[in-house]
Amino acid sequence: MASVKALVQSQDLKSLPSDYAHFKDSQKSIVAGPEVSLPVIDFSLLSSTNPDERAKVIEDLGKACEEWGFFMVVNHGIPENLINSLFNVCNEFFDMPEEEKLKFETTNPLYPVMVRSGSTIHDKSNQTVLFWRDYLRFFVHPEFYYPDKPQDFRDLISEYSQRTRDLAWKLLQGISQSLGMEEDYIQKAMDLDHSTQIFAANYYPPCPQPELAIGIPPHTDHGLLTFLLQNGVGGLEIQHEGQWFHVNALPNSIFVNTADQLEVLSNGKYKSVWHRAVVNNEKTRITLVVPNGPSPDTIVTPAAPLLREAPAAYGPMKYMEYVNVQRVTRLHEKPLLDRLKLH
Ligand code: OGA
Ligand code: NI
Repeated sequence: MASVKALVQSQDLKSLPSDYAHFKDSQKSIVAGPEVSLPVIDFSLLSSTNPDERAKVIEDLGKACEEWGFFMVVNHGIPENLINSLFNVCNEFFDMPEEEKLKFETTNPLYPVMVRSGSTIHDKSNQTVLFWRDYLRFFVHPEFYYPDKPQDFRDLISEYSQRTRDLAWKLLQGISQSLGMEEDYIQKAMDLDHSTQIFAANYYPPCPQPELAIGIPPHTDHGLLTFLLQNGVGGLEIQHEGQWFHVNALPNSIFVNTADQLEVLSNGKYKSVWHRAVVNNEKTRITLVVPNGPSPDTIVTPAAPLLREAPAAYGPMKYMEYVNVQRVTRLHEKPLLDRLKLH
């Protein structure tokens, strides 16, 4: 299927092609939420030798997970030029001729390298609607895959994957402690030495009628923590206390959100946050997304130390099975996470 980028370039689009109309009735069109500021976590304090400073950041981290499920990490130590180069190489990828990109096209979610355009969803009347985005995704850990073009991908991704994995592990140590558990509890229980890490790039071209389209509909992510960078163009919205809010990034920050397996592990204390991507009619938006999960074979259950306080609220499921089932779950069906709830 042709990319959204090619569709936009091939014709002078004045209105949204009907396949992409998520909101048929302009009365019900998408309304961007008001902007909200997110909690900010200073990553450097997690390695502080001052115990008070460290205790404070762990408390902040716990609060951010519990109250928001979404925060911005600053002072993360990932060089700005690495991030810029990554955006450039992803842009180059989406700029390649269609036939080069289509080599990777597949609908199998477990295929290691995958490109997709206009992923589909089914609306309430079971009609197919396409997302306004092009998409590249591949597994980078425990096995490292990468597209063979552009050439720079391999080294850049390898470095970014390593650095974000370190970041995820350190944050999860702090999160373990914020739940009153040993620092390495999550690391061991989720087998993070073999953690599942995915690299995804979302490419949202300018859209002629953004209020009728959707980049990614409301969803929660699988995994423990997702990292997201954007190319300076907004579009990410999160649900907070029942309302949609637009979020914007501080310079040099990384968005982090809590995901489904962290909700299960924390026995419901840290809820997986609902979010969506809206589109605009002016600028191309690119986001680089790294979901960090347990090892593929980990059977995820609520953490044992937390069950002294409350009974398990979620049933067990192997992580890769979860990923597989979640991908084929339709938008109008009960989310998989809800189906694991025991009461
Ligand atoms: C995702 C996601 C949001 C965005 O890829 O899971 O939620 O703003 N992306 O691109
Ligand atoms: Ni997401």
